[in-house]
Amino acid sequence: MRTLVRDLRDKLDQVVVVEGWVNTLRLQRVMQFVVVRDPTGMVQVVNRRGGGDDQLERVLDDLTVESAVAITGRVVENPIVKLGGLEIVAESVEVLARAEVPLPIDANTNLEQRLDWRFLDVRRSAQRLVFEVQTTVERAMRAVADAEGFTEMHTPKLMGTASESGAEVFRVEYFDRQAYLAQSPQFYKQMAIAAGIERVFEIGPVFRAEPSYTSRHATEFTGVDVELAWISGVEEVMSFEERLLVHVLSEVRARHGQAIGEHFGVDVSIPAVPFPRVTMAEATARLRERGWNPEGDRADLDPEGERRLSALTAEETGHEFVFVTRFPVGVRPFYHLRPDDDPTVTESYDLLWKGIEITTGAQREHRYDVLCKQADEKGIEVGPLADYLNCFRFGTPPHGGFGLGLNRLLMVLLGLPSIREATFLFRGPGRLTP
Ligand code: 4AD
Ligand code: MG
Repeated sequence: MRTLVRDLRDKLDQVVVVEGWVNTLRLQRVMQFVVVRDPTGMVQVVNRRGGGDDQLERVLDDLTVESAVAITGRVVENPIVKLGGLEIVAESVEVLARAEVPLPIDANTNLEQRLDWRFLDVRRSAQRLVFEVQTTVERAMRAVADAEGFTEMHTPKLMGTASESGAEVFRVEYFDRQAYLAQSPQFYKQMAIAAGIERVFEIGPVFRAEPSYTSRHATEFTGVDVELAWISGVEEVMSFEERLLVHVLSEVRARHGQAIGEHFGVDVSIPAVPFPRVTMAEATARLRERGWNPEGDRADLDPEGERRLSALTAEETGHEFVFVTRFPVGVRPFYHLRPDDDPTVTESYDLLWKGIEITTGAQREHRYDVLCKQADEKGIEVGPLADYLNCFRFGTPPHGGFGLGLNRLLMVLLGLPSIREATFLFRGPGRLTP
């Protein structure tokens, strides 16, 4: 039976079987050392040559790094050994699967090459931690959604018409027709609201045909989408998101705080609520005063503006998050609600965390005639939108929600330099493999 490395101390002077990968090998003239790694840690295995077991000696000499092995031996205390002050005196070694030599990547290999061999890259504990944290994040999200009466939905990713804007959409062959990959569950989660499912959320794949080679863009990523009905304003959407993130970060801190500190040098802090809020008009005015001068006549923030706004917020309030609200009509989709007191803006927001947008949210326009008018104004053909617009002809209550990029969240949370490392198998304009 397998003993995990973290439990070895309980097995002092007993014979155990450890199963894992060969991490390092030191085959000396007198002694043979193998460090074996399993998901819980690393242990040194030792054999003194000439101890009478030629077979064992030969197997150890033939080992290769990253081979999968099962090692049987006695656990002994040895204070000199850095790995936990104990080691295993080998009795037999079984090579379950031999790794070829040389390995295609090592610690110094560049990111793109590491992504070519992602399964080997993820064997490193820091990389595995990313997915352990992701699991905790999703579990915490579902816990909040459950406690607040949400229903989890799974909406189609194959669509007959392009969703939202029509831009950034992948076309796929669909028998004798054309289909599109969903670039957001937006219209379907609103359809769920129209269907009387008052609070919906979905965690699923999102596809964007964006030819962006930045550190924060992927062509396929995991989206967390939320929609709430019977709201009195977008503020309700924002405060739900605050509760969601506070719980997520509390759980991450409790379960992985120490490991995250060790591997990534990041201290996971739990944000105070409410998060700071600033309107887009205020934000751009304040940034311009401080020298932000983007190209053209921007009505929203460029990545540099986002970084500066987060830096300014952190300086003034000590907060890592900031909601930017009331985006101008021109930079938001037709379905965003416009407030009565200012028809030039939308009841929408972006949530920035440490300088990066992790969420876009809004209250939606639920009045059929206003919605059609706004689509028309934006020059959008309403024909293909018939199924969506029909949702508003038979009594759909006020509602709003948001979309959060899970990989973006992980990237910022762990201080990763690229979304590529916050995704198991990254998809971008230049990458469809492995
Ligand atoms: O800001 P986005 O495009 O908003 C929507 O999809 C709306 N339908 C959401 C809503 O409910 N109003 O996407 C939502 C989030 C972004 O804030 C970002 O975190 C992430 O999805 N995201 C991406 N992540 C990785 N790669 C990309 N290309 C992304 N595009 C958006
Ligand atoms: Mg956005």
